[in-house]
Amino acid sequence: MNPELMQSGAKRLATYQQKIAQSPVVNTASGGSMSLGRPHQSGELDLVHGRILYLEDVSVSFDGFKAINKLSLDIAPGELRCVIGPNGAGKTTMMDIITGKTRPDEGVVYFGSTINLLRHTEPEIAAMGIGRKFQKPTVFEKLSVFENLELALKTHKDVRSSLFFRLDSEQSDRLDEVLHIIKLTGHVHQTAGNLSHGQKQWLEIGMLLMQEPRVLLLDEPVAGMTDEETERTAELLLQLKGKHCLIVVEHDMKFIEAISDTVTVLCDGAVLAQGPLAKVAADERVIESYLGR
Ligand SMILES: Nc1ncnc2c1ncn2[C@@H]1O[C@H](COP(=O)(O)OP(=O)(O)O)[C@@H](O)[C@H]1O
Ligand SMILES: [Mg+2]
Repeated sequence: MNPELMQSGAKRLATYQQKIAQSPVVNTASGGSMSLGRPHQSGELDLVHGRILYLEDVSVSFDGFKAINKLSLDIAPGELRCVIGPNGAGKTTMMDIITGKTRPDEGVVYFGSTINLLRHTEPEIAAMGIGRKFQKPTVFEKLSVFENLELALKTHKDVRSSLFFRLDSEQSDRLDEVLHIIKLTGHVHQTAGNLSHGQKQWLEIGMLLMQEPRVLLLDEPVAGMTDEETERTAELLLQLKGKHCLIVVEHDMKFIEAISDTVTVLCDGAVLAQGPLAKVAADERVIESYLGR
């Protein structure tokens, strides 16, 4: 590349950017907004094709055993996708692959249309806005609810700035909003160790929400919860959908019934059936391999 070419390129880019800055922003039917003609910045999430996560023909073997076998998934922004299936179907491994914890042997994994997640590390993927809630609650037991949420915000920043970290008013509003969503406003100063199992799970979801994730992966979030806690978790997730994309793995079918739009049934590392719960629950193969008669 010679200097003249670079200069003329820079000029063209400036003219183009000026044009784009004047281009209209339109509201879409789904209530979001998009702007036309904006050039895509590398590393920025591109949702133009209506998908936030895209997996195609992903496979991974452990010691010759195919835990994931040509798995394909297509998930829309703001979607709440439920994933069900027998133990060992590959549900957790699927989450490991999306979050960069496990590298597939083959296949394609994209975040939006342009970010190839297979080129990123686990911390990079988390920082890009893919949050994950593991099965066991992992809150800081000795800290208060408030301190846990505050810490989630701090750890999202770089370490140097966290040393002198103070919540600004926007962050403080966000913290109040999250407290409300996770139904812990009345417990803000309580030590996390004294919360019920369900409340700890909500607190951990709250810690993820502080980082404003685009996608939230939840692995068996209601396991061990009381019926009432399970119902409240369903309300919580329904409240989050639309704003965040949620992928929820669960065995509790009553809970799945309460929250689901599209259900993906995973079996032997691949999609066995997909669609509304009523449809997949009536599928002979699903009954055979998972739901039973
Ligand atoms: N890191 C690993 N090493 C070896 N085998 C694994 C590993 N992770 C998962 N597996 C195996 O892959 C299969 C799928 O596991 P998993 O994704 O945990 O299933 P699920 O969450 O649907 O119950 C299981 O047979 C499990 O033993
Ligand atoms: Mg699992």
